Amino acid sequence: MNHQQIIFSNDIQKSLDTIMQGIDHSKAFILTDINVKQFVFPKIAELPAVKALQCITIKSGDLNKNIESAATVWKQLDEYGATRRSVMINIGGGVVTDLGGFAASVFKRGIRFINVPTTLLGAVDAAIGGKTGINFNGLKNEIGVFNEADAVIISTLFFDTLPMSELKSGYAEMLKHGLLSDRQYFSDLINHDIAGNDPEKLLELLKRSVIIKRDIVAADSHEQGLRRALNLGHTVGHAFESMAMKRSEPVPHGYAVAWGLVVELVLSNMIYKFPSDILYAVARFVKEHYGTFHIGCNDYDNLVALMQHDKKSRSGEINCSLLSDIGKTELGTVVSADDAKAALDIYRDLMQ
Ligand code: GLY
Repeated sequence: MNHQQIIFSNDIQKSLDTIMQGIDHSKAFILTDINVKQFVFPKIAELPAVKALQCITIKSGDLNKNIESAATVWKQLDEYGATRRSVMINIGGGVVTDLGGFAASVFKRGIRFINVPTTLLGAVDAAIGGKTGINFNGLKNEIGVFNEADAVIISTLFFDTLPMSELKSGYAEMLKHGLLSDRQYFSDLINHDIAGNDPEKLLELLKRSVIIKRDIVAADSHEQGLRRALNLGHTVGHAFESMAMKRSEPVPHGYAVAWGLVVELVLSNMIYKFPSDILYAVARFVKEHYGTFHIGCNDYDNLVALMQHDKKSRSGEINCSLLSDIGKTELGTVVSADDAKAALDIYRDLMQ
């Protein structure tokens, strides 16, 4: 299995130098977005490895992860004289690394790219594993390719400007990694004080998450099997996220995943006897740090319909990746509408 090159370092200059020396390239470019340029760039703008490069800036936000922004990137690469041997360095959150990875993967049939995630969610999820893409026709990540960055630099340097809700959003994906791997990591995560502002400890935990994801991707880069385990919490999480959007009260992705994890662990307990003590510990942790997504019985039919329309569904059934224990995945479990509603009942008992 091939592992993606991942450098854990707060020395961005040295990391970029090391990576660029290893890539036979002509020009290099930076891609970022307006928010990152304003709030995060000042930390690195004066580094020679950054200052010397032409910078392409797209609009921020998931609404701009679209074909127009990709076209802006391609036009500017052409204007600046990019060739097939050029390299693009994507510095930003998931929008920049997803869109930048896609734009680079198809420009002149593919140029190399490097990801420098500036959010915790980006570092533990979007920037690693080669899922690139843009939203299209009202559908998220509808157009894209699997193509891994040549290298990823993981740094906590950027996180001190992140709002707590952003940190918690990334932490939910880490909690998922803990559930997918081993009891020790899960227990370290659940006992860590997220709000405690301990960057060293966070970096240590973050490294373990990145390696768990990297290993899963190395075993199944195109999501034919094992990689589907990374969808734990997401079938229900996406339904909560869509319902929140319909209520015009959008929630951060990681919050929806955290609530989705509780419901999917309830299902895991119902179907596979996943240990109740761990389910309760996760529910307590999620309630304390993420609050509750409030639902009533009259929301169940809508939520079930949303789960049935999830990307993973093959023919209108609810499809979840569940667990029989920490580290023991039960991929592609088909869940009946009645079981999903029973799990939502238990979620309300645990969380409301
Ligand atoms: N975000 C899930 C995956 O990369 O497969």
